[in-house]
Amino acid sequence: MKQANAEARAEIAAMSVEARMAYLVAEINRHNDLYYQQAAPEISDQAFDALLRELQDLEQAHPELMQPDSPTQRVGGTISKEFASVEHRVPMLSLGNTYSEGELREFVARCQKTLGTPPTFVCELKWDGVAISLHYEYGVLTRAVTRGDGVRGDDITANVRTIRTLPLRLAGAEEVPFLEVRGEVFMPLEAFAKLNHDTAEENKRREADGKRTLNLFANPRNATAGTLKLQDSSVVAKRRLDCYVYNLYADVLGLKTHSDSMRKLMELGFQTSPHWEVYVSIDDVWAYIERWEKGRNQLPLNTDGVVVKVDSFKQQQDLGATAKQPRWAIAYKYKAEAAETTVLDIEFSVGRTGAITPVANLNPVQLAGTTVKRASLYNADEIERLDLHYGDLVRVEKSGEIIPKIIEVLAAQRPAGLERIVFPTKCPSCEYDLVRDPDEAAIYCPNSTDCAPQIVGRLEHFVSRDAMYIDGLGEKILAKLVGAGLVHNPADLYRLTREDILGLGEGFKDKSADNLMASLEKSKERPFEAVLFALGIRFVGETVAEKLAAHFGTLEALAQANEEELTAAPEVGGRIAQSVRAWFASAENRAVVAGLQAAGLQMAYVARQREQVSDALAGKTFLITGVFERHSREALAALIEAHGGTMLSGISAKLQYLVAGSGAGPSKLEKAKKLNVTMLDEAAIEQMLGL
Ligand code: IVH
Repeated sequence: MKQANAEARAEIAAMSVEARMAYLVAEINRHNDLYYQQAAPEISDQAFDALLRELQDLEQAHPELMQPDSPTQRVGGTISKEFASVEHRVPMLSLGNTYSEGELREFVARCQKTLGTPPTFVCELKWDGVAISLHYEYGVLTRAVTRGDGVRGDDITANVRTIRTLPLRLAGAEEVPFLEVRGEVFMPLEAFAKLNHDTAEENKRREADGKRTLNLFANPRNATAGTLKLQDSSVVAKRRLDCYVYNLYADVLGLKTHSDSMRKLMELGFQTSPHWEVYVSIDDVWAYIERWEKGRNQLPLNTDGVVVKVDSFKQQQDLGATAKQPRWAIAYKYKAEAAETTVLDIEFSVGRTGAITPVANLNPVQLAGTTVKRASLYNADEIERLDLHYGDLVRVEKSGEIIPKIIEVLAAQRPAGLERIVFPTKCPSCEYDLVRDPDEAAIYCPNSTDCAPQIVGRLEHFVSRDAMYIDGLGEKILAKLVGAGLVHNPADLYRLTREDILGLGEGFKDKSADNLMASLEKSKERPFEAVLFALGIRFVGETVAEKLAAHFGTLEALAQANEEELTAAPEVGGRIAQSVRAWFASAENRAVVAGLQAAGLQMAYVARQREQVSDALAGKTFLITGVFERHSREALAALIEAHGGTMLSGISAKLQYLVAGSGAGPSKLEKAKKLNVTMLDEAAIEQMLGL
């Protein structure tokens, strides 16, 4: 073994850089194929990453030797430009579709009548993703273009290159000057679930840090479209998009039928769906459709129907196409539990972090046992995709999710003169110009200081249980106080008088006003670390607030600390330090602090007298995530500290143990695994604590 290694090393050392790079490209491609196409990897992920890294390093040192189809291009990098618009060589048509067996039979009869003979059909599943056109020159992927309006699309080559199952170089097409392949890019259900789960987790952190939250994606198609439009292809690479191809345009290959081209695509190294079939009789076509109505639920991606295509290219040509769709193919769509209703209007609501979320108000309709009045529209892209108008007749569907969604606009039934819904360019609350975050689907209002819903949102955080715990101040009352001009920032809350509250009118009787005044008074006893957390400084969650409070002792000292002094505090890195500096640099924030101080809030740290049970965990570091059956997170943290352990606020190289309950985010677990952090479940931590 040693001998063999030494020989291999000597051989490698003797290679020229160019040869080594070619070798690495070939090896990485081979392992990619083993991993993704054959599901039979020969080496570990780590060994694979090492090959990739070596190639990346060599390419950086010798950019002139880099191959345009290098597998490193799948890893992604930043594309700084907007996507270029490219005209399709052959327009990308859409498909006529039907939900009825009768219409499908009519389609078959029509084909037969025009052709004068019963044609052979190919049945394929209709993938619910985003159509893509791929250009290969001399076997190398040179361009990937979206469908766009069918005539022109966006050049998204860098993003598409990250799709691992897509060959960057075709086996046996070196002599073909140009060929075009079309297919569907999709996000597998598992990747979609992970993306939305990770986003929800990220949002929890963002909320704790007072940062804008991200919109969730409506469905895998929406997620695919959003991902393909990202400017940073390294983010795209992480989202695990996939692709099935179903069309090959290459005159020189002399293909005669669609089924031939499907076989050719496989031979060239593409991933096609394995489920296509060839039939002549309509009854067989119908049996295929019925079989897959249930079967499709077992597939790892969404399908919304079956595409039936005439197999012979000659016959396809004879049948021709209308301006929008071919006459030789049709999509049969499966029905979901859906209802039809009209869109009354759209509400654009502003979240506490400024993100704008569109929600449609619908004419109430019965669906799956409930009355549906509202449907989420998720984001601006979704409104655009639907081409939604006020008063449109839409299909709403409930597919597992609690909130119904608009899946389709019945545009053919749209009366003339309806107004198109456009995403506002000004904040619906404060009329500030809205801003689109280039990396996210979210559009947000940047007027954080004067936009009412954002002020209310921040106040909600301030009064929440883990912060100042001011009972009886919910969103509604806060909105009223803000609306009445009585409250603008947290300090104003403590200037409220009993009369102010009674003056709000409805609902406020003497008793409730007294209770609220008492809650405000009581909150003045909340410890300094809670006050610090309540301020809502970005990145200052509960744990960091506690560490900062303990380290600096007083708000005064914290406000005056420079970046260097801040980073000297345990658990505080540059990101937190900068955020704290920026917060105290604002005169408005300093005025709020002065107001809170004047109101008598706790501005100095009182070390909590924690009973030290043992020092069994002294020198050991812990982080708790997820939910547990027998203990709350707070209780576990208190127990760990009582045994001398140290709680950390995030996963870092310093972390030794991650106590993970159910619902712990997979990205967190993955990161911990990478850093060799020991995982403890509830039973394991109980054992450590001697419970
Ligand atoms: S063939 C001339 N085959 O459906 C049309 N399309 O409504 C050629 N799609 O834009 C399309 N699965 O994005 C074809 N197996 C399949 C498909 C498929 C999904 C999509 C495609 C197209 C849309 C047409």
